[in-house]
Amino acid sequence: MSDLDEAYALKGPEDCARLYADWAASYDSEFAVNNDYLLPAHVAAAFRTHGGSGPVLDVGAGTGLLAQNLRALGNADPVDALDLSPQMLERASQKGIYDHLIAADITQPLSLPRLYAGIVSSGTFTHGHVGPDALSNLEQHAAPHALFAVSINAGVFRSMGFDDALDRRGNVTLLEVPIYGPATRDPAHADDRALIALWRHPG
Ligand SMILES: C[S@@+](CC[C@H](N)C(=O)[O-])C[C@H]1O[C@@H](n2cnc3c(N)ncnc32)[C@H](O)[C@@H]1O
Repeated sequence: MSDLDEAYALKGPEDCARLYADWAASYDSEFAVNNDYLLPAHVAAAFRTHGGSGPVLDVGAGTGLLAQNLRALGNADPVDALDLSPQMLERASQKGIYDHLIAADITQPLSLPRLYAGIVSSGTFTHGHVGPDALSNLEQHAAPHALFAVSINAGVFRSMGFDDALDRRGNVTLLEVPIYGPATRDPAHADDRALIALWRHPG
């Protein structure tokens, strides 16, 4: 089974915590490289293009690829990392790009250090990971008019109910992007796509 097939076959937070504990050390050097992983760059660009600002919460931050892309695009605002996996957060912390590192499960009510003007996420709303109910837990911590930029794997957009959940929020922009680039070594997933959902929290 490929790395990706293993990740897509997960069944919720306990499975995720186990897999990412094992994956953390090689995630950047193997998974991201071998799959020509583009999604964090697409989410960072969408957030910046739509006027996103901080403080930012990076949801399912993993090893910090999304925040690295935000920094590369000139974002100097504070960014906090939230992830279920302490091992992934440990990798992220080594990059020195986050203010707070928060180990938490977004399918549960959250206790966070501040309100956020930006909430971003790349690769967390996907097969076997997190469904749309978690969005309400995040919205509890959004400042008035906060910009959300959240990727959703196109393969679960309808089946997990993201379409209805986003319809209820109204005024959501959807950008379709490739998750992996032309250099991916996993042809079975070369055409996988994500929708980046962008919306403003009410004032
Ligand atoms: C595919 S990785 C994406 C990491 C990073 N955002 C990126 O694009 O490289 C998915 C991340 O979501 C985290 N995750 C999965 N379920 C979660 C949950 N219920 N709460 C918080 N984080 C979760 C995993 O630990 C993992 O780091």
